Amino acid sequence: MTILVTGGAGFIGANFILDWISGGGEAVVNLDKLTYAGNPASLAALARDPRHAFVHGDIGDAALLERLFAEHRPRAVVHFAAESHVDRSIHGPAAFIETNVVGTLVLLEAARAAWQRLEGDAKAAFRFLHVSTDEVYGSLRESDPPFTESSPYAPNSPYSASKAGSDHLARAYHHTYGLPVITTNCSNNYGPFQFPEKLIPLMICNALEGKPLPVYGDGRQVRDWLYVGDHCSGIRTALADGRPGEVYNIGGGAERRNIDVVNAICDALEKAVPRPGGYRALVKQVADRPGHDRRYAIDATKIRTELGWRARETFESGLARTLKWYLDNAEWVARVKSGEYRRWLELNYAARSAP
Ligand code: NAD
Ligand code: TYD
Repeated sequence: MTILVTGGAGFIGANFILDWISGGGEAVVNLDKLTYAGNPASLAALARDPRHAFVHGDIGDAALLERLFAEHRPRAVVHFAAESHVDRSIHGPAAFIETNVVGTLVLLEAARAAWQRLEGDAKAAFRFLHVSTDEVYGSLRESDPPFTESSPYAPNSPYSASKAGSDHLARAYHHTYGLPVITTNCSNNYGPFQFPEKLIPLMICNALEGKPLPVYGDGRQVRDWLYVGDHCSGIRTALADGRPGEVYNIGGGAERRNIDVVNAICDALEKAVPRPGGYRALVKQVADRPGHDRRYAIDATKIRTELGWRARETFESGLARTLKWYLDNAEWVARVKSGEYRRWLELNYAARSAP
C-alpha cells in the first residue's frame, strides 16, 4: 500500500511525511517540484528509507501523474503542493493560479481517472485529501465568531483566492464525479522546517542575526496559531475517519496579535541566547501589507466532536519546541538562505519604509 503526497518537501508536507513514516504508515510517493520552498534536506532522515520515494516533478504534469498513479496505485492522495506565501502572491500572482488552481485541477483529473479504474473495496476506500487554509474565509472583525465550515468564502489576497479556487474544484469533483474528496481548512502553522519568509521563522532568524524585526502596520492583526504536528495529526484523522465530501476546519484556538507573537519570540530568545540591549529593541514597524487581513480564527468543533481530534500543543509549548529546533538546526537554516532568499528579502522589505 502507498499514498501519494504532493509538496512533501515543503514545510507541512515534510512534517507530515516524517510523522507518517515514524507512526508506521504505509510507503509514501512524494511528488514535489522543489520550488524555492521545497527542501529535500528536510527529509534527510528518510534518505535510505525504502518507505519514501521522492519524485521531482510538477502537479501540473498530466503525463507524469498518469504514470505515478499507474505505477504506484496509491490508496490516497494528500495534496499539500502549493504556492503558499501571501506576500509573494502580491508581487507575482500568476504562479499561484498556475499551481494552486490549474495544478490542482490536473491532479484531481488524474486522481479521478485512477479512482474510476478501481473496483470494490479499493474504490470505496480511496481518498483525496485536499489541504487548504482558513484564509479562504476572508477577514474577521474583533467581535466576530471564529470561522466555521459554513462561513462564506471571501478571499482577499491572490494566495487565498487561488486556494479558494482549488477548494471549489475539489468540492466540484466530489459533487460531479463522486471522487471521495475531503478538504481541511487550517489556521496559521508554525514549527520545524518552516521557510523563513513566514512570520515566526523570519523573526527567529532575523533576531539571531541581530537584524530588524519587521512588523507590518500596527502589529495588531490576529492569527490563530497551530503547531505543525497538530495540523498533521488533524490531516491523518480526517484521512482515516473523515466523511467524503466533507470539510473540516483545523485550528488550535490560539489567537495572538502579531506584535505579541514577536515579543514572545524576543523574550524566549532572551532566555536562551541573551543579547545586549535585548531582542525587543530590534522590533521595527514597517509599511503594512496591501489588503492585509485583520483577523483569522478557527472554530474546530466539527473535527473535535465528529472525529475526536484535538491539538496537543499550546502556543507556548509549541513555540518553545520551535525555537529549540531553529537553535539546534542552524545548518538547515543556512542552507535555505540561498541567493533567491536574499533577493526576496530585498524585494519585500527594502521598499517598506516605516508606516
Ligand atoms: P510550502 O510553501 O512550505 O511548501 C510547498 C511545497 O509545494 C514546496 O515543497 C514546493 O516545492 C511544492 N510545490 C510548489 N509548487 C508545486 C508544483 N507545481 N508541483 C509540485 N510541487 C510544488 O507550503 P506549506 O506551508 O508547507 O503549505 C502546504 C499546504 O498547506 C499548502 O497547500 C498551503 O496552502 C496549506 N496551508 C498552509 C498553512 C501554513 O500556515 N503554512 C496553513 C494552512 C494551510
Ligand atoms: P505570514 O506568516 O506571512 O502568514 P499569513 O499572511 O498567511 O497569515 O504572516 C502572519 C502575520 O504576520 C500576518 O498578519 C502578516 C504579519 N507579518 C509581519 O508583520 N511581518 C513580516 O515580516 C511577515 C512575513 C508577516
